[in-house]
Amino acid sequence: METQGKKGRGWLSYRAGDLHVEDVSLSKVAEAMPTPFYCYSANAIRASYMELSAAVGKIGVSICFAVKANSNISVLRLLSELGCGMDIVSGGELERALAAGVPASKIIFSGVGKTRAEIARALKAGIHQINVESAAEIAAVAEVARAIGKRAPIAIRANPDVDANTHAKITTATKESKFGIAIGDVADIYAEAAALPELEALGVAVHIGSQIQDMAPFRRAFTAMADLVTSMRARGLVVPRLDRGGGIGIADDGNAGPDIDAYANIIHETVGHLGCQVTVEPGRWLVGRAGLLVTELLYLKDMANGPMGIVDAGMNDLMRPALYDAHHPVLPLREPASSETAPTYNLVGPICESSDKFGSYEGLGKLNAGDLLAFDCGGAYGASMASTYNSRDLVAEVLVQGDRFRTVRRRQDIAEMLKLEQAGEWQVPAPSERALEPVIALGSS
Ligand code: LLP
Repeated sequence: METQGKKGRGWLSYRAGDLHVEDVSLSKVAEAMPTPFYCYSANAIRASYMELSAAVGKIGVSICFAVKANSNISVLRLLSELGCGMDIVSGGELERALAAGVPASKIIFSGVGKTRAEIARALKAGIHQINVESAAEIAAVAEVARAIGKRAPIAIRANPDVDANTHAKITTATKESKFGIAIGDVADIYAEAAALPELEALGVAVHIGSQIQDMAPFRRAFTAMADLVTSMRARGLVVPRLDRGGGIGIADDGNAGPDIDAYANIIHETVGHLGCQVTVEPGRWLVGRAGLLVTELLYLKDMANGPMGIVDAGMNDLMRPALYDAHHPVLPLREPASSETAPTYNLVGPICESSDKFGSYEGLGKLNAGDLLAFDCGGAYGASMASTYNSRDLVAEVLVQGDRFRTVRRRQDIAEMLKLEQAGEWQVPAPSERALEPVIALGSS
C-alpha cells in the first residue's frame, strides 16, 4: 500500500520499505544503470508548475523557467507543453530550449556577458526579449541588430541594491554585485536605448538572488521597480514589460518553503497597478524538489567524530554543498526501521578535495557498504552544474512518469571524453591516437 511521501510529497514514498518515485522503485532503476544518477518525477514538476501558475496566473503573470536550474531537454519539453516560457543565459541554453520545441517568442535571454555571436543567434531565432545589463551591452546589441537587419527587443535589468538575505554566492542585487544597472541610472540609459532605431525598448527586469526564503526583500525590490516604472513613465518613456526574475527558495528539508500565494500577493500589491505584462523566472522552485541523486555507499570509515560514509557521488555530481554550504536531505532506498538506533553519519564523496563532503546525517538507519542512498532536492542546480572533475563520468539523468522511467541523458564516460583530446603534434602519440604523427619522435637523434 502506498504511504504518504516521507516529505509530504505524494510522488516520493516508501512502498513495502522500498523508495519509489511515482510508481517506480528507485532500486529497480539502480539495477538498470550505474550510480550515481539523477532521477526526476515528471508529475512532481508538473504539479509545481500548476501550483505556481495558479498562484501567479490569476494576476496575469507569465512564467519563464530558468533553464540553468535543470537544462535537460525532456524537462524543458515537459514544462513547455504546459505553456511555460524559458529564461536562458547562453547560446547553449538557447539551443536546448529550441531543441525542446520552445518557441523563440517565449524565450528571454538574460545574463551579464552575452557574446555578439549569441546575440545574433538569438535575434535571428526571433527571441522574445534580451535583458541587457550594461550600456556597453546595449551598444553591442544595437550593433548586431543593425548588422543583421533586425530590431532587438530589449529590457534593462536594474540593480535595486536589495540584499536578498540568502547565501552570499547567490546574492545578485547589492551594489557590489556584477549584475544589472544601478537603479538610479536605468531611466537615462533606457531613454538612450529607446532612441536607437535598432532597439525596441520594452521594459525593465530585476533578479535579486536565489534560494530566497524571506519575502521581505522581494517586496522591497518590486516596490523599487514599481517606483522606477512610474518615474520612467512620468518622463514619457513607454515601459510595457516588467520581468521580476526568479529566486523563490525551497525548504532545505524538502518541504514547500515560502508560501507561493504570499509571493503572488506581493507581486500583485507592488506592481499590479502598473498594467505591465509581468513575467517571473523561477528555476529552483519548479524543479528543485522534484529530483534525487542516487548514490551507493562505497565504504565506512571510523573517525574520531563517528562513522564516515564514503559515497560514489562527489562534488562534481552535486556541487551545492561545496559551493553554497547547502545541506541536501538523504533518504535510504531501503526504509530504515523506526525502532533502529543508528549512529549519525558524515557523508563524503570520493573527490580529492576536502570540500567534497555532504554533511552529517541522522535517521538513515544502520548503513552497510553497498547500500543505496538518495540526496533529496536535487532537481535544480544538480545535473546542470555537474562536471567531469577528477575525470569522472558525467552522471545520467532519468525521468519517471507513472510506472515508466527513461534515461533522458545517458552517462558520458571517459571513452567519450578522450575522443575530444589529442596530443600536441610534436608529442609521441598516445596509444589512443596512433593516427597522429609526431614532428619529432622521442629518442630520435
Ligand atoms: N533569473 C535570473 C536572471 C537568474 O540569474 C536566475 C538564477 C534565475 C532567474 C533563477 O533563479 P532561481 O529561481 O532558480 O533561484 N547554482 C545556485 C543558484 C544560482 C542561481 C543563478 N541565477 C544554487 O545551486 O543554489
